[in-house]
Amino acid sequence: MTLENFENLGLAPILLRNLQGLGLIKPTPIQSQAIPHVVKGRDILGLAQTGTGKTAAFGLPMLTRIISYGKRPAPKTVRALVLAPTRELATQIHDNLAAYADGAPVRIQRVVGGASINVQTEKLSKGVDVLIATPGRLLDLLERRALVLSETKYLVLDEADQMLDIGFIHALRKIARLIPADRQTLLFSATMPKLMEELAASYLTDPVRVQVAAPGKAAEKIEQGIHFTTQGEKATLLAEYLAKHRGELAVVFNRTKHGSDKLARLLENWGFPVLAIHGNKSQNQRERALAAFRAGEVDVLVATDVAARGLDIPQVAHVYNYDLPNVPENYVHRIGRTARAGRDGRAVAFCAPLEMGDLRAIEKAMGDSIPVIGGMPHEDTGGVKPGARQRQGQRPGGKPGPRGQQQQRPSKAKPAGGGQQAPRRSAKPRKAQRHD
Ligand SMILES: Nc1ncnc2c1ncn2[C@@H]1O[C@H](COP(=O)(O)OP(=O)(O)OP(=O)(O)O)[C@@H](O)[C@H]1O
Ligand SMILES: [Mg+2]
Repeated sequence: MTLENFENLGLAPILLRNLQGLGLIKPTPIQSQAIPHVVKGRDILGLAQTGTGKTAAFGLPMLTRIISYGKRPAPKTVRALVLAPTRELATQIHDNLAAYADGAPVRIQRVVGGASINVQTEKLSKGVDVLIATPGRLLDLLERRALVLSETKYLVLDEADQMLDIGFIHALRKIARLIPADRQTLLFSATMPKLMEELAASYLTDPVRVQVAAPGKAAEKIEQGIHFTTQGEKATLLAEYLAKHRGELAVVFNRTKHGSDKLARLLENWGFPVLAIHGNKSQNQRERALAAFRAGEVDVLVATDVAARGLDIPQVAHVYNYDLPNVPENYVHRIGRTARAGRDGRAVAFCAPLEMGDLRAIEKAMGDSIPVIGGMPHEDTGGVKPGARQRQGQRPGGKPGPRGQQQQRPSKAKPAGGGQQAPRRSAKPRKAQRHD
């Protein structure tokens, strides 16, 4: 049964008033299905597509429970800990929860890398109701004894599968060990690879699985397309697409920090208003780039996977996968930066000959194939590129995709760029990216 409005979900009255003020009138499916369980104290594994309101699905019921305590947290304690993979996402979750809880007596703070640790230590000294953190900075603060987690009653992992992945799992284990076992644990994501499920289960107690769509399914309203090309022709092809949609916001995903910078410079020379965001930029630059893009001061944001997950910029109309991601699930997250909260969006992926293995892995993870909108499919050698990242326990090579017939797929559009004549370039080994 779907509960049609927020009033029926057991939320605190002050939150209901704020939701109305924010224009959130009708709960989304993940909200109506997850909120009553969280209000009752159950652990949750929540799976729903990108842009469908998972932040409020964990945030509102958790805030309801915390508001009901009626007293302040003790110094240096944290009642609820929300972990997120990137600084920008932590900031966004903080801002969302602060807006939902506006005027309620709850202290919501954020601690992330790239900002003064002394200021953060000071903020924690009074005690916090909800702390949103990136794991690395949280560990630093725990080492300094700036906070304790012995009174923590809620643990939320947003982008749960990424938090359980190799880049974060060690930090997460250390952190989770410090939180009492009688806590309530909430795991949310749009993707949950099978390999992660067992690991996820080890953090949950008698959980309710709330699944709105098959895990890994792309958001409904994204018009997706794959354009086969060569590595050398990607930049001009991108410029053609961007020129067709000037004035509309576009995120361009690139696999490497260096590649992102290079591409941003090139696009700038070609007259596109563009900024780049990646892990080698200072925090100040990262924040400024995102703010300028949010405000529409630049149309194009070139980004690594640091911007793949969770970021909510409603005006984004286009996502370009300049390179295919090496973590297949990240394709769904990357394209999910558009078509949020019921809007439309377009996602075009460029596929060079060496990326056929990545494409297969992506289509397998999504359980769907991406329509061809340009070029001709490359010969599929069945191999995986050197340096392609593997998840823990995953065998090299992988199995062929569910459809496995990309080579035979007819091209629905005019070939653009003569992909098949291009010489093969040797792939440089790439390091796995770690998002702080
Ligand atoms: N009930 C609602 N009605 C209308 N809009 C909503 C509702 N709930 C959330 N939104 C809006 O939808 C957008 C997406 O929400 P949110 O960022 O929580 O999605 P998400 O499911 O976490 O996506 P992702 O998987 O990309 O992290 C936000 O702009 C949010 O304000
Ligand atoms: Mg989210």
